[in-house]
Amino acid sequence: MTSLIPGAQTLIGTEDTTEEDRFKEDQHFATVICAFARYEQIGFQEVDIQREYYASVNQKYKDMLPDHYKRFVAVKEGIMFNYDLISYILGPHLDDNYHHVKDTTIDEQQILSKRPRVLPLILPPSQKHAPRVGPEEMEKVYSTLKQFVRDWSAEGAFERDKCYGPLLAELEQLFPTNRGQIKVLTPGAGLGRLSWEIANRGFCSQGNEFSFYMLLAANFMLNYVKEKEQIALYPFVHQRSNNFNQSDPLRSVAIPDVNPADLPPNSDFTMVAGDFVELYNATPNHWDCIVTCFFLDTARNVFEYIEVIHRALKKGGVWINLGPLLYHYAESFDTFSIELSYDELKKVITDMGFEITKDSIQSCTYTTNKRSMIALVYKCAMFTAVKKTDNPKTDVLLNMHDFHASHTQPFEHDHHHHENGVCHH
Ligand SMILES: C[S@@+](CC[C@H](N)C(=O)[O-])C[C@H]1O[C@@H](n2cnc3c(N)ncnc32)[C@H](O)[C@@H]1O
Repeated sequence: MTSLIPGAQTLIGTEDTTEEDRFKEDQHFATVICAFARYEQIGFQEVDIQREYYASVNQKYKDMLPDHYKRFVAVKEGIMFNYDLISYILGPHLDDNYHHVKDTTIDEQQILSKRPRVLPLILPPSQKHAPRVGPEEMEKVYSTLKQFVRDWSAEGAFERDKCYGPLLAELEQLFPTNRGQIKVLTPGAGLGRLSWEIANRGFCSQGNEFSFYMLLAANFMLNYVKEKEQIALYPFVHQRSNNFNQSDPLRSVAIPDVNPADLPPNSDFTMVAGDFVELYNATPNHWDCIVTCFFLDTARNVFEYIEVIHRALKKGGVWINLGPLLYHYAESFDTFSIELSYDELKKVITDMGFEITKDSIQSCTYTTNKRSMIALVYKCAMFTAVKKTDNPKTDVLLNMHDFHASHTQPFEHDHHHHENGVCHH
């Protein structure tokens, strides 16, 4: 993945990508941009369909809930606010080469005429037709909105305390002094809050992420937002089931709960775009600590992740992990995926040259809606593992890559996907 986002944080990536990789990446980037850009249009269409269904209900039933129609207007208003945020997110990434096309399929309803604006269908350079944006892409936009609640709202504080809290406490206890010299990496950084918290505690902190949905949103939050509670977000507006009250999914959440620009002077905080395995296998013996949160199970080959973590750490360096083992590719029957149980994982971690010094279970949620009738609680594995051995001289990973390449589907960039609090990454 090439460098993507300029800004306060340095973004780097691997330079040795092929033409074909670059082409695929451009295509993918265009799809992500279009998914964001069409959010409002597609969201409105969904609401219109629901309204039509409701309109067809027998009048005697509808008379029982005279206010129900107001819901459809309120949902559209929430979508409009979300789209304001999305416009900010996209803003820095659209240059004059992108065409903005007025979408003629949108009917000018009252709600729209109150705030007239062009709903863009954004076409990437050299493309006549916008890339297809299907339900899968829209679901990723919806999960990105919910991820803002987890990482950057006061409402998410409870969830963060359970997930990030124990990781940060362990990190602080392990490295009480000289923190400016301690290099900490957080792979799969999502919207960057954990990496930010680590930087805020004085560590030299680097987050790494490869989903363009996450990267664009994190870039906006970390580099452009300078005030607390600047943005009103309606993250649950698409939730139609499991609502106690009609108003629950219509509530707004203010973000961010802190000013992301408030970091100690001279803090060393970077976000790096790219695949964790590709990027960090190349820098052995570099990190004092690697913190993984809801990340290990994003692997197709978890052996490979463990080996790269081992390789990237300095000897004596520490890996702190928290997360479930909801292997992301387990359900995709046509995709290579290895699924180890926790006991097997610990055996592999030890065999690869770590000593597990702490091991516990922590109950955590993931992008949960606190007013929903459904909440999924993960019994997360939390462990601390110290790198005991030097990196092996022969590169086992290369052999794994050979195997990997001949058994996998083409590489996809975005693997996070959450539904009803179930995290598929
Ligand atoms: C379940 S999310 C967790 C995000 C964050 N750590 C948190 O706890 O909120 C997993 C993240 O890892 C990212 N990811 C998955 N595989 C990756 C890889 N190979 N390299 C970098 N990031 C990856 C996904 O895009 C996703 O944002």
